[in-house]
Amino acid sequence: MTTQPIIRVELPAAAPSAAAPVAGVALVTIHRPEVLNALDRSTMRSLAETLETLDADPACRAIVITGAGERAFAAGADIRAMVDMSREDHLADDPLAAWDRVAAIGTPTIAAVRGYCLGGGFELALACHMVVAADDAVLGLPEVGLGIMPGAGGTQRLTRIVGPARATELILTGRRMDAREADRLGLVSRLVPAADLLDAALALAAAVAAMPTQAVRAALGAIAAASRLPLDQGVALERRLFADLFDTPDQAEGMRAFLERREPRWSDR
Ligand code: HXC
Repeated sequence: MTTQPIIRVELPAAAPSAAAPVAGVALVTIHRPEVLNALDRSTMRSLAETLETLDADPACRAIVITGAGERAFAAGADIRAMVDMSREDHLADDPLAAWDRVAAIGTPTIAAVRGYCLGGGFELALACHMVVAADDAVLGLPEVGLGIMPGAGGTQRLTRIVGPARATELILTGRRMDAREADRLGLVSRLVPAADLLDAALALAAAVAAMPTQAVRAALGAIAAASRLPLDQGVALERRLFADLFDTPDQAEGMRAFLERREPRWSDR
């Protein structure tokens, strides 16, 4: 009997009937549906390695990350694997570094979220560049109720998006919010009916993958800097990245194509 990998990578077709994969898009699925895709150490390590491999592949220009089954994106870090852990276990071999590795991916990442998206699962979605949420998504950070706290970026990323008042209430009570509230708070790029989730996430990924790679990566870098740099430094970084793009063939091609009223032919495809 062969064991199925916990992290599965596909080159998805645009529609079930379409034979060709969506150009430049990879679909990565966390596959532990029996525990609502709870994230243990080997799952997260394998996810980070998979994403880093895709990030190094120039043919991959957008990545959709989702959870297997209909019930969960991921119901958190694996509580069974954490129950006997000590402070030293965390300090010696930082198991949370895998979330940082996800956040460091330079290829656009889209979390396609349905069902439970809790704790480390929510923190994983927050580490992605965009979130497409199904209307049945349930999001929250229940860690404090387990005697711990969010430890994979949740206190930082949630607070930067929704502000300290709302982040504090959500983290200290562990309250779960529905997809509509998450959308209202600015956590979601697109909110769609559950049945359309994967199609919507893949369509968004396809739209991004159709863009010129260097411009996409430069824009992502500048957007990421907005949450860590003071405004003047962020604007200075933006100006430098903007100027750098005038050294790329895609700048000339994109502008000529517009003036010649034709589709651009990007340099890497
Ligand atoms: C381990 C989990 C799990 C988790 C669910 N399961 N979540 N196992 N870790 N985080 C397992 C259950 O034990 C059960 O296995 C199976 O998945 C189905 O779950 P049920 O509880 O039976 O389903 P249901 O009654 O529908 O409840 C769904 C649920 C609940 C509300 C999502 O499972 C739940 O509250 N899960 C924990 C959510 C949570 O606290 N997450 C934060 C974890 S801490 P069996 O074998 O019994 O069938 C965290 C820290 C992050 O994320 C900080 C750093 C990364």
